[in-house]
Amino acid sequence: MQKHTQNVSKEYSKAIEDGAKTIVANTGKGKFAGYERSDVDQVSEDMLQYSFGCGNPLAFSQVQPGQTVLDLGCGAGLDLLLAAQKVGKDGRVIGVDINEDMLELAAKNCQEHPQIELRQGVIENLPVESNSIDWVISNCVINLSEDKQSAFNEIARVLKPGGKMLVSDIVGENIPAWARYSGAVKAACAGGVISESQYLEGLEKAGLTGGNVLARQYYDANQIATIVSDAAPTFLSKLRCCGNNILHSLLTRIVRPVAQNIWSAKISASLAQP
Ligand SMILES: C[S@@+](CC[C@H](N)C(=O)[O-])C[C@H]1O[C@@H](n2cnc3c(N)ncnc32)[C@H](O)[C@@H]1O
Repeated sequence: MQKHTQNVSKEYSKAIEDGAKTIVANTGKGKFAGYERSDVDQVSEDMLQYSFGCGNPLAFSQVQPGQTVLDLGCGAGLDLLLAAQKVGKDGRVIGVDINEDMLELAAKNCQEHPQIELRQGVIENLPVESNSIDWVISNCVINLSEDKQSAFNEIARVLKPGGKMLVSDIVGENIPAWARYSGAVKAACAGGVISESQYLEGLEKAGLTGGNVLARQYYDANQIATIVSDAAPTFLSKLRCCGNNILHSLLTRIVRPVAQNIWSAKISASLAQP
C-alpha cells in the first residue's frame, strides 16, 4: 500500500479516536445536504458522527431490488445502509475501505443487514471480482487517492456491462500549494482534488462512457474551515491555545482563496454494453 494511503488512513483513525464531529459537507442546507431527513433519522448517532461524506451518491441512482452495489471508501456505513434498503434482501452491498477502525464501525452499524459485506482494501486495487457490480458508489473518497486513474480503471473493471458509477466527490481548480502539501487538509478532502474535466477525462480513459456532472454543491470559507477543523483535530489541537473561535476565524481567512475553487460534484458514468 502507498505511504500516502497509509497516512490518509491514519488521519481517519485519529478522527475516530478524537470523536470528530460529523463533517458531511455542509452546503448551507444543513449538515446532511443531499440526504432526505428520513435517511438520517433512522441511523445511529455514531454513524452520523463518523460520516465524512460530501453528498449523497445514491440520490440520483435507480438502484433496483436484487442488484449489487459497491461503495468505495464506505467509512462508517451510512451509504451502505441506504443502498441495502434499495437492493432489498435479494441484493448485495459491498463496502471497501482501507481503514480497520472505519470497518469496525461499519460492521457494528450494518450488523442487522446480512446483504452488506465489508472488505478491507484499497480503491486502486479493489478486492472485488471483475464484471460483478451493477452500481459503484462513493462518497468523498476518490479525491483522497494519489492514483486516481487506477481507481477509475478499477471501477471500469468491476462494473458489469451497462453498470453505472455515481459518486459524490470534491473537485476543484487552482488549489494553492499549501493546501496540496498539508496531510490534514488532504485528509479533509480538499488537498488532493482534481478538476471536473480531469475527472471526466480519467473516467473516459478507463473506458467508462457518458461521464457527466449531475449536480454541484458549493462551500463558503466558513464551511471549509469547519470541514478542515473537524477532519483534522490532531493537527489543529496544536493551535488550540489561541482559543477555538480565533482559530476558526483564522482558518476561515486562510481557506478563503480555496473556497471559490472547490466544490462537491455528483458525477456519473457507465460501462457501455458490448
Ligand atoms: C471522507 S471519508 C468518507 C467515508 C464515507 N464514504 C462517508 O461518506 O462517510 C473517506 C474514507 O475513505 C477511506 N479511504 C481513503 N483512501 C482510501 C483508499 N485509497 N482506498 C480505500 N479506502 C480509502 C478512508 O479510510 C475513509 O473511511
